[in-house]
Amino acid sequence: MITVEKERVFSGMRPTGRMHLGNYLGAVQNWVRMQDTHDCIYAIVDYHAMTTPYDPEELNADARNMLIDLLASGIDPEKCMLVVQSQIPQHTELAWILGTITPLSWLERVPTYKEKADMHPDYLHLGLLGYPVLMSADILVYRATRVPVGDDQKPHVELTREIVRRFNHLFGETFPEPQARIRRETARIMSLTEPEKKMSKSLGPQSYIGIGEEPEDIRGKIMSAVTDAGPPADGQMSPGVANLFLLLECFGGDDISSEFEQQYEDRSIRYVQLKEATAEAIIESLAPIRKKRRELLENPQLLERIMERSREEAAALAEETMQDVRARIGLLR
Ligand code: TYM
Repeated sequence: MITVEKERVFSGMRPTGRMHLGNYLGAVQNWVRMQDTHDCIYAIVDYHAMTTPYDPEELNADARNMLIDLLASGIDPEKCMLVVQSQIPQHTELAWILGTITPLSWLERVPTYKEKADMHPDYLHLGLLGYPVLMSADILVYRATRVPVGDDQKPHVELTREIVRRFNHLFGETFPEPQARIRRETARIMSLTEPEKKMSKSLGPQSYIGIGEEPEDIRGKIMSAVTDAGPPADGQMSPGVANLFLLLECFGGDDISSEFEQQYEDRSIRYVQLKEATAEAIIESLAPIRKKRRELLENPQLLERIMERSREEAAALAEETMQDVRARIGLLR
């Protein structure tokens, strides 16, 4: 009998606050889809969350909440592994090793390093510069070949490929070159308050919608989302309006969004109605997630069991890779 091995997938999410619609549409929906067709490992990457200022108690609570948000969004531990990065020490072991073959110049040109350095000039450290090396280690320690992410992560996956080429050149064919899997339509969900920037927790609570948020909060945030004074004469949709249309299409479907698009074209659209429809579509689509979250919150033992099983399975895979790596690079065993 011929057994076809499924392709291995890895992706991660930083537990800095709660999961928002950008994470959900840009990455998690793909994670959920791929569970059925691929061999998937998903991680809450807590070491990465430590590269920007953080509070230890919040980090702990955010990691737990992220786990709940992921399970509530459809990540099914019967179909994939869901792990916490810091519980599998092979991630950081490999990161150190990869760090010794990654030129500083490659790291200094990474756009997120420059962005974060501008945002927190007093918080420049080795961990921030090495962020993409740890991310490469996350992927490579499982020899994953597909990485479902939003488009902001593309430069990191490209860098991982460069690191793979260098490692394989120095020590022999060890790692496959992973590829980012980006869903074009939802690659970049924009902020509600500054729609020329991507939705992110760092722009303040009004700028994003958490997937576990209550209906009245969702309504309030969408109703005050930035739009424009009306369809411009050149027909070029402003980023805020385009973002609302995208959210309406994702959560409400094609029919309702085409209806509003028609109104936009014939300039009869009223943004307040577009916002109301978008808010209701989001609220309705997220209702099952809110319900599942509440159930999970009441069952902490279930979470422990899920974590334990995935941790053991993932650690075994990671250890297999590390034994090969240690031998190749000449470590004494
Ligand atoms: P993080 O935690 O910032 O985001 C998690 C995922 O959500 C996507 N995303 C978005 N997609 C569309 N629109 C948005 N506004 C938006 N905001 C976030 C991100 O692209 C990402 O896929 N460095 C990673 C975490 C990481 C990782 C890894 C990812 C660590 N190791 C290994 C893949 C493989 C990060 O900070 O994602």
